[in-house]
Amino acid sequence: MENNSIKDFDIKTLTSFKIGGKIGEVFFPENIEQFSKIMEQNKNIKVFGNLSNTLISSYGYNEKIILTTKMNSIKIEGTKVIADCGVKGPKLAQEVAQKGLSGLEFMIGFPGSIGGEVYMNASANSQAISDCLIYATCFDPKEQCVKKYTKDELGFAYRTSRCQKENLIVLQVEFELKQKTVDEIKSKMEENLSFRKNHQPSLALPNCGSVFKNPQGDSAGRLLDSIGAKNMYVGGVKVWENHANFIVNTNNGSSTDVLELMYKMYTEVKNRYNIELEPEIIFLGSNNDKENELCKILYKTK
Ligand code: EPU
Repeated sequence: MENNSIKDFDIKTLTSFKIGGKIGEVFFPENIEQFSKIMEQNKNIKVFGNLSNTLISSYGYNEKIILTTKMNSIKIEGTKVIADCGVKGPKLAQEVAQKGLSGLEFMIGFPGSIGGEVYMNASANSQAISDCLIYATCFDPKEQCVKKYTKDELGFAYRTSRCQKENLIVLQVEFELKQKTVDEIKSKMEENLSFRKNHQPSLALPNCGSVFKNPQGDSAGRLLDSIGAKNMYVGGVKVWENHANFIVNTNNGSSTDVLELMYKMYTEVKNRYNIELEPEIIFLGSNNDKENELCKILYKTK
């Protein structure tokens, strides 16, 4: 590995979907200094965390990307917790639980990294990552510098934040947690894990979490269920039989299979309810014409 980077990187096994081709070059910075240097030398490079919410094209992506999985330090000082963006949610949830700190129990069931979870304001079982966030240190690509943003400045709302609008890259997050007994915290985490086990596919069945965001005041899962999505499949991927807003990769599916299935789900809901579901899954790739056409509709790309 040269400069913490690997060329022609086969990404498939690193993704939760177990789908994806070769990436031109992947950088693995270990701290903010290394990260900033890579950004300085590679303007507009895309950044990803644990690839648990990202569909990467089976036709690959010829450009460079950064994966933040090696930026993974955690500092706990009293009720204050500072975590790097690449820390995995379940690891942070476990570490703070052992210290009797509450607020991040929902993370136990999400495979994502802290950076990705802040970017999309991940939430589950009445907790959101923004609830106990005080500051996030982000890289601002417009001004090419690292800045600290307060929770208010980050404009959190359901499955979104200012980071998405301005392409801010979350590097480090400070949380203020509440003291509770270890037993109380562990039992909340057990509750979350059992919800997940009963309502969502395990990662042993490769998937990327919820496919579409819930439209305001409604549920994507309910809408999709009502149009019979649970019987839908394309190639090696299908809608999960127990929750209509999950796609599972059961038979070595491709990114085109996933996009085509998303298109079927989107179109049926649009035709029946005149609601345009918005994908929660992030897509990376532009090497295939069919995929580009599907993205124009699903992601409103040009
Ligand atoms: N429903 C159906 N049919 C289905 C699926 C769901 O009728 O096939 C109904 C359920 O009965 C329920 C409603 O839809 O009344 C909502 O379903 P659920 O409780 O499973 O929650 P969700 O809205 O689908 C959201 C998040 C999940 C999070 C859970 C738990 C979104 C898009 N998803 O799911 O987040 O874990 O709540 O709080 O907001 C993720 O973002 O990847 C994710 C898994």
